[in-house]
Amino acid sequence: MKVIKTIPQMRDWSRQQNSNGFSIGFVPTMGYLHEGHLSLIREAKKHAQKIVVSIYVNPTQFAPGEDLDAYPRDFKRDEQLCAAEGVDAVFYPSNEEMYLPQHKTFVITEELATKLCGQSRPTHFRGVTTIVAKLFNIVQPQVAVFGQKDAQQAIIIRRMVEDLNFPVQIITAPIVREADGLAMSSRNKYLSIRERQEAVFINRSLELARKSFSSGIRDLEAIRAQMEALLQKNTSARIDYIEFTDAETLGRPMPQEAPVLLAVAAYFGKTRLIDNTILE
Ligand code: PAJ
Repeated sequence: MKVIKTIPQMRDWSRQQNSNGFSIGFVPTMGYLHEGHLSLIREAKKHAQKIVVSIYVNPTQFAPGEDLDAYPRDFKRDEQLCAAEGVDAVFYPSNEEMYLPQHKTFVITEELATKLCGQSRPTHFRGVTTIVAKLFNIVQPQVAVFGQKDAQQAIIIRRMVEDLNFPVQIITAPIVREADGLAMSSRNKYLSIRERQEAVFINRSLELARKSFSSGIRDLEAIRAQMEALLQKNTSARIDYIEFTDAETLGRPMPQEAPVLLAVAAYFGKTRLIDNTILE
C-alpha cells in the first residue's frame, strides 16, 4: 500500500493505474477509522479495481469554536487498517498541500447546504463540497463511496457531481452501528460513560419512529413528539433538530408517496451526534 502526501504524486499514481486499465474507487475520510469507514472501502472494492482512501481533517468544514483541533487523529492505526483492508493507496496530504495561503474558491450547493445540519453549521457544507471537489480533481476516481450516516452530505455530493459534471459515480453505503445501535462515529470518542449510555436513545428514537410509521401513522408531528418525549425522558441531550424531508431532495416530505428521510442531531454534553433513518 502506498502512502501519498503530495498532489502531483497522487495524480501520477492515478494516471498510472488508469493507463494500466484499472478503475479507481475512492473513499474520502477524515481518519480515525472505524467499521463504518471500512464498510465503505469494502463497498468500493465491489465497483472498482484499485482503492484510494484519503485521510484529511479538512479545516474549512469546521467553524471557529468547533472541534477541529480536538478532532481525533491516529494515522499509524488508520494506515494499518487500510493495509489490512487491501487499500492500494492512502492520500494523506498536509494543510499546506491542500490549501494555498491565497485560496479563494469555494463550491456551494445552494439551498441543500442550508437545511438540517446547515442550520447550526452554516459554513460546513461549503467546506465539504469544496474539499470533495478538490479531492475528486486530485484522485480522479471513477467511483466514490459515501456513508448514509451523513445523509445530507451524500445528497449534496450527488447534487454537486451532477451540477458540475464530475465523471464520478457516487455510491451511498448503509449506516454501520455499534452492537447497541449507536451509529459509529469518530466523535463517539468524546462521550463520557454516561453520555455514551444515553446516546443509544438516538437510535431508539429512530426505531420508535419506524415502528409508528409502519403501523400506519403518517402524522409526522406526532412521530416527532414521541421521539422528543423518549429522548427527554432518558437523556440529558439537547436536541438540535428532528426533521423529516424527502429522502432524495431534502424537500418537503410526502409520506404517502415517497421515502422520507428522518434525520436527528443532538448534543450530548459538547458532542454533537447525528443519525437518520428512511421511512417508507
Ligand atoms: P468522515 O466523518 O471521516 O466520514 C467519512 C465517510 O464515512 C463519510 O462518507 C461518512 O458518511 C462515512 N461514515 C461515517 N460513519 C459511518 C457509519 N457509522 N456507517 C457508514 N458510513 C459512515 O464525512 C467526512 O469524513 C468528511 O465530511 C469528508 C467527506 C471526508 C470531507 O472532508
